[in-house]
Amino acid sequence: MFLGNGLLYPIIGFASCVAFIYMSFGDLDLSFDYRFSEPKMSFVGRNGTQFFVDGRAFYVNGWNSWWLMDQAVEDFSRPRVREMFQAAARMGLTVCRTWAFNDGAYNALQLSLGQFDERVFQALDYVIVEARRQQIRLLLSLSDDLPSVGGKRQYVKWAWEDGISLSSSNDSFFFDPSIKSYFKNYLKTILTRKNHLTGIEYRDDPTIFAWELMNEPRCTTDQSGDTLQEWIEDMSKYVKSIDRNHLVTIGLEGFYGPRSPPEKLSLNPGEWFSTLGTDFIRNSKISTIDFTSVHIYPDQWMIETELDEKTKYISKWIISHIEDGERELKKPVLFSEFGLSNKNKKFDHSHRDIFYQSIYDLIYKSASKNGAGAGAIIWQLIAEGMEEYNDDFGFVPKERPSLFRLLKKQSCRLARIHYGKDWERRGSPYSC
Ligand SMILES: *[C@@H]1O[C@H](CO)[C@@H](O)[C@H](O)[C@H]1NC(C)=O
Ligand SMILES: *[C@@H]1O[C@H](CO)[C@@H](O)[C@H](O)[C@H]1NC(C)=O
Repeated sequence: MFLGNGLLYPIIGFASCVAFIYMSFGDLDLSFDYRFSEPKMSFVGRNGTQFFVDGRAFYVNGWNSWWLMDQAVEDFSRPRVREMFQAAARMGLTVCRTWAFNDGAYNALQLSLGQFDERVFQALDYVIVEARRQQIRLLLSLSDDLPSVGGKRQYVKWAWEDGISLSSSNDSFFFDPSIKSYFKNYLKTILTRKNHLTGIEYRDDPTIFAWELMNEPRCTTDQSGDTLQEWIEDMSKYVKSIDRNHLVTIGLEGFYGPRSPPEKLSLNPGEWFSTLGTDFIRNSKISTIDFTSVHIYPDQWMIETELDEKTKYISKWIISHIEDGERELKKPVLFSEFGLSNKNKKFDHSHRDIFYQSIYDLIYKSASKNGAGAGAIIWQLIAEGMEEYNDDFGFVPKERPSLFRLLKKQSCRLARIHYGKDWERRGSPYSC
């Protein structure tokens, strides 16, 4: 998802200063010793087309909140992190996808090439600890193709400033040897980061569900797909060489590339989508990629279409990718972003209920047959008082009771698959 530039430099006004003074007294348990209070957790693994944890299949009902590390940096906004995890736990959500990078933007983790801000790393440490307290796991994204809080374009900019001669394209991120080594340096730094609250290195922390190499990678300057394919192979292998515990995924949107059969190509939202240098099947087959991902944005793909057309289309989109997971890839397929924009001409809040329900039904159907549809992650949830971080997809769960109920219902029925039918009677952590 594209993040508007407005939110990169939030203005901290007088009101926030008052909140700052108040909140810094409200959050004293940062000094709490987490080493003795960490709830037990195991790593999520994979067996064929399913995620596994503690010997049972694990289906994801999750949400995106890209902003957690950012909000955890400063005292006035840090309580939003806990609030978000608590709200999610009340809906039974189990996985949060969030950004574990910020290259050179406001509150940057990587201030300049290879220079990391300890203060921001401590914020990420805090996010991980708060997730674990609520028994929630994190899908951590490591860079972005889009101009957001760093990622591809920032690395290329740094390379220019470093005097490296490059082609003018931002796609040199994917093939320039110096840039690849800059990115590997960041990968190594984050994978071996020792959490200052728990003493656990990130690579050894089961709170992390998986690593995602990049949000929505595209490499339009090489439509054959070879450049991106090599980058994914190289980077995923590198992550695995340092971290043997965690699953790795790419961050794909799911478009079919030029090598796909015609019946698959015709499922792309338009012909143009096969020219982005990505290829869902080919990319996802790489052996160091454990599971794959698909995004769902019919508003952006088919602008003038009515809701029921969109719903019909995305149903085919989802079923096709689940089939790929089962037949071609033998890997789980995670629908890691989906959303319906409130900027649609005829938008009504009830449209989201209908649209999201249709996605959850397909995931549930796949899950109840032990299929490859591994779960869905909504874009996006926000905490109260952070409208400047919202886009046309986000909402505060308690302000949308029907969606709150819908998300919870999905958690409940997936949990019954995971734990068995008498789950409630054995004392579930939230009421179903
Ligand atoms: C993986 O799945 C196969 C087939 O369903 C099963 O026989 C095997 O025991 C599973 N392995 C583990 C480690 O769960
Ligand atoms: C690379 O990205 C930067 C930042 O978004 C942009 O200003 C620039 O035009 C891009 N370069 C090319 C060649 O597209």
